[in-house]
Amino acid sequence: MTTQISTLQEYKEAYDQSVKDPEGFWRKEASTFQWEKDFDQVLDWNFEEPNVKWFLNGKLNITLNCLDRHIKDRGDQTAILWEANDPDAPSIRYTYKELLAEVCKCANGLKAQGIKKGDRVVFYMPMVPQLAIGVLACARIGAIHSVVFAGFSAQALADRVDDATAKMIICADYNNRGSKRIPVKKVVDDAMDLGCNSVDKVVVYKQTELPLNWSDDVDISWLDLTKEQSDFCEAEIMDSEDMLFILYTSGSTGKPKGVVHSCGGYMVYTCYSFRNVFQYKEGDVYWCTADIGWITGHSYIVYGPLLAGATTMMFEGVPTYPDAGRFWKICEKHKVNQFYTAPTAIRALMAKGNDWPAQYDLSSIKLLGSVGEPINEEAWHWYDKHIGKGKSPIIDTWWQTETGGIMITPLPGITDTKPTYASYPMPGIQTVLMDADGNELEGNNCEGLLCIKFPWPSMVRTTYGDHERCRTTYFSTFKNKYFTGDGARRDEDGRIRVIGRVDDVINVSGHRMGTAEVENAINEHPNVIESAVVGYPHDIKGQGIYAYIISQDKGVDDDFRKEILAVVTREIGPIAKPDKIQFVSGLPKTRSGKIMRRILRKIASNETENLGDVSTLLNPEVVQEVMDGALK
Ligand code: PRX
Repeated sequence: MTTQISTLQEYKEAYDQSVKDPEGFWRKEASTFQWEKDFDQVLDWNFEEPNVKWFLNGKLNITLNCLDRHIKDRGDQTAILWEANDPDAPSIRYTYKELLAEVCKCANGLKAQGIKKGDRVVFYMPMVPQLAIGVLACARIGAIHSVVFAGFSAQALADRVDDATAKMIICADYNNRGSKRIPVKKVVDDAMDLGCNSVDKVVVYKQTELPLNWSDDVDISWLDLTKEQSDFCEAEIMDSEDMLFILYTSGSTGKPKGVVHSCGGYMVYTCYSFRNVFQYKEGDVYWCTADIGWITGHSYIVYGPLLAGATTMMFEGVPTYPDAGRFWKICEKHKVNQFYTAPTAIRALMAKGNDWPAQYDLSSIKLLGSVGEPINEEAWHWYDKHIGKGKSPIIDTWWQTETGGIMITPLPGITDTKPTYASYPMPGIQTVLMDADGNELEGNNCEGLLCIKFPWPSMVRTTYGDHERCRTTYFSTFKNKYFTGDGARRDEDGRIRVIGRVDDVINVSGHRMGTAEVENAINEHPNVIESAVVGYPHDIKGQGIYAYIISQDKGVDDDFRKEILAVVTREIGPIAKPDKIQFVSGLPKTRSGKIMRRILRKIASNETENLGDVSTLLNPEVVQEVMDGALK
């Protein structure tokens, strides 16, 4: 197992060593895994192309490390503990032995359908164990998984399937979410009508008896895929730098990009970070409430915990079903030791009152995690007082789809915590703050653009099918630095607080959304001439979506608003629906025709005292109109 730091002194030493001798530091951690052939070089890199390779020529399979390696010592220990949406349904457990058998059966089933190393398989599934099993089955045979969050629309799914030229989609029939049954296979059928020409087969995990549209040529049930298969499957031997998965995420421009992670480095870093950030101890029950459709679920529900031999919980439902005590009821039921969730969930539950957590015994909780967006001070204190009872450190973990693992965080019981501060970089992570002119900010008490100046094992390798996009997005803003897109401040003691995106990306309930993507969706409506989308502070979601729309119609009404929401739901999914829509006759623009988002953001945020000089705009007169019509 990778090293587990347990004192402040050890953290400081590990950090120093990781900077002085990164290769020696990561060689030692990497050597704790099972390699089919040892790597012969730790690192080769330049941030110009970029070209980053870790553990060169090492051969491995990540599932041998997640599963087979644990059979001897913990074959009968629970690997995945699953809690259904329905609170009365029994919990389901898979021991490491059982999980290995299920993964192998599925892997053999995939092979029987012609899936082989390098093929792309897209998952569009609710939070059922079969999602984790399917993902690991792909990794077993060297197929590249790409999980698409099951809240995305058919169009968004088809776009991702087409970009990845996937051969197969694996889905469920329905998604049990609170009191709703959401048709999942139907969305896949629609996506197949919209595109997905590369797809040969759709595998359907049926968990209900509800009716389904079925085509014998294309559709195959999960049961038929797996039932005749052997419960052992030889693992495909992968190179360290072979692709493990693609995960689509939004950027400031254009369509979502496929972030590519590779096998060796991702394995080493997710295990190392999991063990240290969550201070996981033998026998603990760890629960991350994220969805596997996002990076948090990949790294800290599936790979990190399983690599570390942990018991990881998966929850099918939502925090408020059947009532706002559900999370706490589950924590009590399974004596959860580490609880990891998003600020948006904390705020939503905080709004339901203190009585909900007070009804449950939360004494098993040793630490509380937060991820996905900045946590505001009020939510931080509520989490600390009502869930952690003042005795469980809060780890505010900052990271991204592209970083693969947690980058900045307190280490519980080891480093201090301060509300709203992600605080300290992990060993191996060389964070810097830059000013807009490209100077590194030295010293403390400063604010700048958050960059990372040295590679780490789980960093993004490329954006699928478009390496140039990877270079321009992350490596062209500052020479020799990975630019995160976030602004941050460093306090007087060197702790880091991540303030939020400085680009045109908004973070709605921890879901990352490109403003350009939402605008493109709105513009699909035939009566829309132009639109501009910005984020604004929202009490529960962190940021809400504010859309300014120029329409052909003079008299705009509620029906038109509804049509806009429907078009966004169709193009992206309900998560991208604007919270506020303001119809305007013009958008403030520079003389070169660029929309002045800075002004629109301020108006949406109700910060109009200091709009700056607007006289140089192409159309300064619209500013007053936009302000007058602003939605509070
Ligand atoms: O703006 C930062 C915010 O979420 C962005 C990354 O989103 P995504 O790739 O979807 O990954 C989310 C889960 C790792 C970042 O650029 N973010 C994430 N965690 C934090 C955060 N902002 C402030 N504090 C955090 N702890």
